[in-house]
Amino acid sequence: MHPPCIIPLIFSICVLATTTEPAWDGHVTPASLQLAPFTPYYVPPGAKSYDSSSPLVSYKGRWNYHYSTAYVGKSARSTSDPNTEVLLTFVGTGIEWFGSRDNRHGLATVFIDGKPVEEVDTYSDRIRPLRQQRLYWNFELQGGVSHTIKIVNLGKRPGSKRRTMIDLDAFVVTRGGASDAVQSRDEDASILSARKDISTSAWSLSRKGTTGVHAMQLAIISSTHALIVDKVEHNPLTIDGHPAWSALYNLDNHSIKPLRMQSNSFCAGGTFLSNGTLINVGGNPVVESRTSAADFGDLNGLQAIRIFEPCDSSSVANCEMQEYHSRIRMASPRWYNTVVRINDGSAMIIGGARKGGWINNATVNNPTIEYYPPKSIHSSGGLPIRLPFLASTLNSNLFPIAFSLPNGKLFMAANRDAMIYDWETNTERYLPQIPNGVRVTYPMTGTALLLPLSPENDYLPEILICGGSTVDDTKPGYEISSQDPASAQCSRMILDDEHINLGWQVEQMPEARVMPDAVLLPTGKIVIVNGGRSGISGYGNVIDQIGASNADNPVLRPVLYDPLSPPTERFSSEGMPTSSIPRLYHSVATLTPSGSVMIAGSNPNLDRSEIKYGTEYRVEWLFPPYMSLKRPEILAAPKLLPFGGTVQLRVQLVDGNQNSFQVVLMDFGFVTHAVHANSRLVYLRFSIQGNIVTIQGPPNGNVYPPGPGWIFIVADGVPSEGKKTLVGGGQGPPVDQSAIENVLQSTTVD
Ligand SMILES: *[C@@H]1O[C@H](CO)[C@@H](O)[C@H](O)[C@H]1NC(C)=O
Ligand SMILES: *[C@@H]1O[C@H](CO)[C@@H](O)[C@H](O)[C@H]1NC(C)=O
Ligand SMILES: *[C@@H]1O[C@H](CO)[C@@H](O)[C@H](O)[C@H]1NC(C)=O
Repeated sequence: MHPPCIIPLIFSICVLATTTEPAWDGHVTPASLQLAPFTPYYVPPGAKSYDSSSPLVSYKGRWNYHYSTAYVGKSARSTSDPNTEVLLTFVGTGIEWFGSRDNRHGLATVFIDGKPVEEVDTYSDRIRPLRQQRLYWNFELQGGVSHTIKIVNLGKRPGSKRRTMIDLDAFVVTRGGASDAVQSRDEDASILSARKDISTSAWSLSRKGTTGVHAMQLAIISSTHALIVDKVEHNPLTIDGHPAWSALYNLDNHSIKPLRMQSNSFCAGGTFLSNGTLINVGGNPVVESRTSAADFGDLNGLQAIRIFEPCDSSSVANCEMQEYHSRIRMASPRWYNTVVRINDGSAMIIGGARKGGWINNATVNNPTIEYYPPKSIHSSGGLPIRLPFLASTLNSNLFPIAFSLPNGKLFMAANRDAMIYDWETNTERYLPQIPNGVRVTYPMTGTALLLPLSPENDYLPEILICGGSTVDDTKPGYEISSQDPASAQCSRMILDDEHINLGWQVEQMPEARVMPDAVLLPTGKIVIVNGGRSGISGYGNVIDQIGASNADNPVLRPVLYDPLSPPTERFSSEGMPTSSIPRLYHSVATLTPSGSVMIAGSNPNLDRSEIKYGTEYRVEWLFPPYMSLKRPEILAAPKLLPFGGTVQLRVQLVDGNQNSFQVVLMDFGFVTHAVHANSRLVYLRFSIQGNIVTIQGPPNGNVYPPGPGWIFIVADGVPSEGKKTLVGGGQGPPVDQSAIENVLQSTTVD
C-alpha cells in the first residue's frame, strides 16, 4: 500500500509514503522473503559458527543426537544427565551459545577458561521448543589468545523436581582482528601502567561492560543508569524473542536491561523536557529483508516521538520507552534530526531528511523545524516551519549543530555555515562562515560545544567546533575516499557583535578528526575522544572502504582542551592513555555522574558485523586524574532548583584551605553522531559557610533551559560527584491542544 503524498502540510512538505506492508509478525528467517519462524541465531560477517557436530566440539557423558532442518547445520545434541559437559577451545574475543528452550529445559553452568561465569536457565514455559536461541554470550574476552567455553548440565531448575535437559545447537566465535589481538596486549600493559600511575594521579582508561545493543545514542538518565538507543539490527541482547535495539545500562554494576521499542530508532535525536521526561525523536522505516538480513518486528520510526518518563530508581523497574503513534508523532518524517530543549522547556526538532540514505540533497531534505509539544506559532498551526538555513546549507547538513543560547535564541551550524535563530520571531541571523572550507556536519562530521557560561561575564556565550572535513560535498561517493584527510581545525567564536565581526578564531588539534566527541568535564575543561584521521561518516558509500567503513585511521588517544589557557597551550595529550578500540561512525561518549567519561559504540555497518571495523559493544571508562584524588562530596542536594531561587547543599570538603571553589550545573546532553545537543555547563552563584553551600539557581530558562541538571562542587580543581536536580519548576512544557489536534488531523500515522 502506498499512501499518496498529498497530505496538506504548510510549505509543501509531504509525508513520505513508505510501504506499510506488515514486515514482521515474528516469523521471518534471515535473508528470506518467506514467512518462517524468526530465530536469534546469526553469524555476523567475520564471525565463525561451530555446529554441534563439529569435531572441534567435545562432549563428556551421554548426549543424544537430533536431526532436523529446524537446527543450525540440521543437527543438535541434548543431554538430561546431570554433570554432562560440552567444551570448545577457540581463539577470539567473543563466544555465543545457541540452543533450544522449552518447559523440559533447565539450568547449566557456563565456564570460561575454567572459571564458572554464569548459571544459565534455558527453561521456557512453552511445550513446543524455541529453536536457535542465544543462551549465553560474552564479547569481552582477550583477543589473540586461546579460550575455552565449557557448559555443564545441572539437570534441575528452581521450583521443579523434574530432571531437566540442555542442548547445544551451535557456538559462534567472534574472532576479532589480528591487530586487536596485538593491541589488546598493548592495552593491558597500558592499563597496568595507568593503574600504577594512579598514585601520581594520572589519567586512566579501563574496559568494562558491554552494551548488548550497539551504542549509537547515549544519555545519562539517573545517578545509576544510562539509556542506550540503537537502530534495529542483530544485537545479542534480546527481548520478546527478537533482538533489542535499546537498553538501560547500569553504571554501578554494568548490568543491562533490554527496553521494548516499537519503531526503528535509526538515527534519532533526543532531549529531556522541562519535567524530566526524555523524548527520542525520528528514525527510519521498517527494516526489510531487502536492506538487512532479517526483519525484527519494528514499526516505521520516521515520525516517531518515543517517550521515556523519568526513571530515578536504581532498579529501573517499570521504566519503559513508550510509543503511541496514533496520538503522539511528528508532523513530518525525520532521519538525522537534531533535538534541543529551548528556554520554555519544550523540544525544538531541527531538520533531517525525509528518508534515510546518506548525504542530504534537495529531494529528501526536510528544511524545517517543529516543536514537541507542537506550537501554534508563525501561522504554523503546529506544523513544520520552514528554516531557509537548512535549504541553503545542502548537502552536508544533517544532524545540524544546535545550542540554546543565554538570550533565548539558538546557535546553529550546518555544513560550512552558522547562524543565530530567534525562534520567537522566526528570524535567522547569519554568522561568518567557518574558515578554510571546513564542513562540520554529517557526513563531514565535526563536534561542537557551548563553552561554560558564567555570571561573571553575564553568561556571554562562546561556541567551539572541532574536526570535520574539507571534502567537497557535491562529489559522488565514488570520488570520495576513506583515506581523504579529516580536518584538525577547531573554530571558536564569542557570540556578541564585537566578536562576530572578528570572525571565527582558528586553532588546530594535535590530530585531525572526523566524528570526534567533545565532552565537557565539571572542571570546565573538555576531553575529545573517538573519530578518525581520514574519511567521512557513514558506511558503504565511498571508495577504499575498510570493511564497510567510510572512515579510517582511528584516533586512539584522547586529547584535553582547556578553553581558558593561552591559544598555543590549550591542547594536551600528556599522560593520556591510548585505547586499542577504534571508535568511528556511530560512537558516543558522555560524562557520567561520577565524573568519569563513558565511551561506547562504533558500528560503520548495515547490520552487526565482526569484520574490521566491526560492531563494537565494549565500553571504556576514561578516568580524569581527579578520580583518584580525595574529592569533595555533596551529601545532600535539593531535588528542585528554582530559577533565581536559593537552595542549600550540605557538603563535605577535603581537609585544608580551598584556594578556589566553584559550583557548576551541568547538562550531560543527548549524544549521537558527534552531536552533543543540550550539553551545558553553567557556573552558579554561591556562598559557603562551614559545610553548607547556599547556591542560587540560574537566573532563567535562557541561561539553563528548564529540565534535569547535575550539580557538582569543584574545590581546587577537584570536582565532587554530581547530584541530579530538576532546574526550574519541574512543570511540563507548554501544551497547545489546538496545535496537537491540527498535527494529528493533518498527518497520518506512519
Ligand atoms: C545490578 O544492580 C541492580 C540494582 O541496582 C540489580 O537489580 C542487579 O541484579 C545487579 N546486577 C548484577 C549483575 O550485579
Ligand atoms: C537524494 O538522496 C536520496 C537518499 O540518500 C537518494 O536516494 C537519492 O538518489 C538522492 N537524489 C539525488 C538527486 O542525488
Ligand atoms: C512531561 O511533558 C510531556 C509533554 O507534555 C508529557 O508527555 C509527559 O508525560 C510529562 N511527564 C511528566 C513526568 O509529567
